[in-house]
Amino acid sequence: MRTVITYGTFDLFHVGHVRLLKRIRDLGDRLVVGLSSDEFNKVKGKKVIIPFADRKEILLSCRYVDDVFQENTWEQKREDIIREKAEIFAIGDDWAGKFDDLDDIVKVLYLPRTKDISTTELKTVIREINAEKLHEAKNVADHLVDLLRKI
Ligand code: CTP
Repeated sequence: MRTVITYGTFDLFHVGHVRLLKRIRDLGDRLVVGLSSDEFNKVKGKKVIIPFADRKEILLSCRYVDDVFQENTWEQKREDIIREKAEIFAIGDDWAGKFDDLDDIVKVLYLPRTKDISTTELKTVIREINAEKLHEAKNVADHLVDLLRKI
């Protein structure tokens, strides 16, 4: 049984996440995910939309994920890798080189990300849709004010 370990936020779960998890799971027989807590995301400079419990439930419903534990600090990885008996640590290549120091206890791999999709991108799209709706609502309100003035 070869265990593979990864870490991340997995907010607004999207196809880039699915593809990465599938490729990582294919490297072994069991995939465990260290899921960043809401508090730790603040440390990472990320504001999550979906709370931890829901992100965990979504991840656990993904067929490529066998187990999920909470990531609270940058420093816990060594302990997690040993506890989970992980043989491979794999993560997207936006982290390339960042976890090389773990290579004395685990094989460290950085996999290419899926292009043109990210949580940040989705948040931007949601923000733009909201801004557009606000703009439309303001136009309607201005029009109504004009009409009322004419009466
Ligand atoms: N990932 C990926 N392809 C993408 C987006 C993410 O392979 N298009 C990978 C990341 O490299 C990471 C994992 O999915 O190993 C979890 O990434 P996460 O930071 O939670 O997702 P992002 O979409 O990158 O979020 P953000 O835009 O907030 O950085």
